[in-house]
Amino acid sequence: MEFNVAVLPGDGVGPEVMTQALSVLQAVGEKFGHSFLYHDGLIGGVAIDTLGTALSPETLQMCKQSDAVLLGAVGGFKWDSPQAKIHPEDGLLALRKGLRLFANLRPVKIFPMLVDSANLKPEVIRGVDLVVVRELTGGLYFGQPKRQWRTPKGRQAVDTLAYSEAEIERILRVGFELARSRRKKLTSVDKANVLQSSRLWRQIAIEMSADYPDVELQHMLVDACAMRFIQRPAEFDVLVTENMFGDILTDEASMLAGSMGMLPSASLAGIPKGITFGMYEPIHGSAPSRSGQDVANPIATILSVAMMLRYSFSLETEARTIEDAVLAILEQGYRTYDIMSEGRTKVGTKEMGDLIAEKVKG
Ligand code: IPM
Ligand code: MG
Repeated sequence: MEFNVAVLPGDGVGPEVMTQALSVLQAVGEKFGHSFLYHDGLIGGVAIDTLGTALSPETLQMCKQSDAVLLGAVGGFKWDSPQAKIHPEDGLLALRKGLRLFANLRPVKIFPMLVDSANLKPEVIRGVDLVVVRELTGGLYFGQPKRQWRTPKGRQAVDTLAYSEAEIERILRVGFELARSRRKKLTSVDKANVLQSSRLWRQIAIEMSADYPDVELQHMLVDACAMRFIQRPAEFDVLVTENMFGDILTDEASMLAGSMGMLPSASLAGIPKGITFGMYEPIHGSAPSRSGQDVANPIATILSVAMMLRYSFSLETEARTIEDAVLAILEQGYRTYDIMSEGRTKVGTKEMGDLIAEKVKG
């Protein structure tokens, strides 16, 4: 089969981890007889510097015409000023919105051999295997009004947390369906003790649970969830939540897996059944202080490629092949700096990518 993949390496360590992810994808293609045609595009800071915009209409169009999108990371010190007119992150948000990628799946799984190198106690993180379904095109990130202005009494700013019933329903459906295909536990995370949008969210979740009698639905306030994540994380199966709650909780959850450098993500335009258009990216940022040093962990991006094969191309065996290769290389003791522990072999970005690609070839 032949697939068209839009490739947006972005800023910081993005291009370095992307190069490794593409070499692993190439290895899968050779092994299973698929060809992947890459279409390169600019996004983020590099797009601001070259085109004057964080996402050009041409790049968006190119992504729309592809079968899936692979993204590295955006952002960096250079574009960080709060007074800047455009930010690299604007490009990512415009891309998510423009491609209607409302469902962001962030699986958090602890690899058994990394239990000892994580910051948290082994008995807390052992057995963690959860997925956060983050709503990605609404909520606090996109609600209007959203602006800053001056008043006689000083400066003022507003952001808005708004959701329609249709937006809540479609993201909850992703949560319910995913829970149904896993351990059948769904935790809907909200702030219903304070926010109107959360009360609507919770009410719709209760109504929808009638369609899913086989799924155990639980509601949890976002602050309690943050605590539970580091207290008893292994109890979670699927979580579903608002855009910004999901952003914050998944950075926290990454510590359960040892490092942000281990976590992939899929941003989908529909329920993950059959073939779904999507964008795939590591959950970590551009890590500008690490860029250009060949140290960044490419595993999150490599595992994002596996998610692309699974959800957008329906190539389950190929996806598993990548995941098994990652597992095998970790098993052999190879570690990037972020997951390094005593007695293991420290490798850089390229070497880690090469090892995994070789393992895929078998
Ligand atoms: C993420 C990132 C982005 C977000 C930033 C880069 C805009 O933190 O994907 O989690 O906040 O969604
Ligand atoms: Mg984030």
